[in-house]
Amino acid sequence: MPPRAMKRSLEDNDMMQLFRLLAGITAVLVLVQAVLAGQWIGGDLAIIVTHGWLGSGTLLLALLMTGLSLAGGRQGWLDGRAVGLSATMVVLVVAQLGLGYAGRASAVAASLHIPLGVLIFGLALVLFVSALPLRLSPADARAR
Ligand code: HEM
Repeated sequence: MPPRAMKRSLEDNDMMQLFRLLAGITAVLVLVQAVLAGQWIGGDLAIIVTHGWLGSGTLLLALLMTGLSLAGGRQGWLDGRAVGLSATMVVLVVAQLGLGYAGRASAVAASLHIPLGVLIFGLALVLFVSALPLRLSPADARAR
């Protein structure tokens, strides 16, 4: 995802790793939510509240990624696609929260909620994989 021509500093590399970490945690969190949803379907009705709280945590992570990607776009260690994808993630997670709560009363909302969760998981993986660690120049590697 980074524009090739740009010169990288060690700090840029650390920021990129942080972005990648946030995307990875987001993917894991969505996976955990799927597990909790499965437990809810299996009869543990109270667990869906925890699932909802983790959903709010997912929104926080998406907001952090968007902020970080905006900074990365300005400083040149990420290109515009990361901003676009992170902002899309915020919109999808907000919709997912709405569908999740609406799913208490609407079967349509509940049926849309599950595939959207799969889509959000895929998007988090795309962000994780595309923010690959930067290759350090030999001079940077020696400095480290
Ligand atoms: C970013 C990801 C997700 C967010 C933000 C989210 C959010 C929510 C919220 C807020 C609720 C309502 C909780 C309540 O009633 O107290 C909910 C319910 C639910 N979620 Fe999710 N969820 C996510 C991912 C998933 C995934 C991946 C699955 C399954 C594969 C899933 C399955 C369900 C189910 C089955 C319910 C119960 C629906 C109902 O009450 O009819 N969710 N979710």
